[in-house]
Amino acid sequence: MEKTLVLIKPDGVSRGLVGEIIRRYEAHMLHISEMQLVQPTAEMLCAHYIEHVDKDFFCELVEYMSSGPVIALVLCGESAISLVRKINGSTNFMSAELGSIRGDFASSITQNLVHASDSQSGFEREYDIWFKSL
Ligand code: PPS
Repeated sequence: MEKTLVLIKPDGVSRGLVGEIIRRYEAHMLHISEMQLVQPTAEMLCAHYIEHVDKDFFCELVEYMSSGPVIALVLCGESAISLVRKINGSTNFMSAELGSIRGDFASSITQNLVHASDSQSGFEREYDIWFKSL
């Protein structure tokens, strides 16, 4: 069994899509092992998106992620890291596959509903930010 960290971003929470998003993960035999509603701080977001700090979209991204609460989830299951990224769909909503969360619901590359860890080391780093720094 593998674990991965998912964030349901502010647009997912404000649009009332939390239940629909979690249903899609659970339909693929992914189980919630931890979950909490979090109002992210600037410090948490800077740590989380540290690899994008020099990108031109960084300020817009942090502002958007600060705009409301997010749901932080730890999902557990077979090949959870790659499976969740497949269920989420491509980062850019225009190229996200229909049937994926982003393909079905995302409205922009910034407001794209969900984040998921991209590796085991990514999961461990992100878990510390979202579940140990509060
Ligand atoms: S990239 O382009 O390779 O750096 O993209 P990626 O590593 O997949 O993730 C980028 C995260 O930043 C968010 N974001 C944007 N990416 C690209 N362009 C723009 N304009 C942009 N605005 C925000 C994007 O949603 C990814 O967020 P996460 O939470 O990691 O999925």
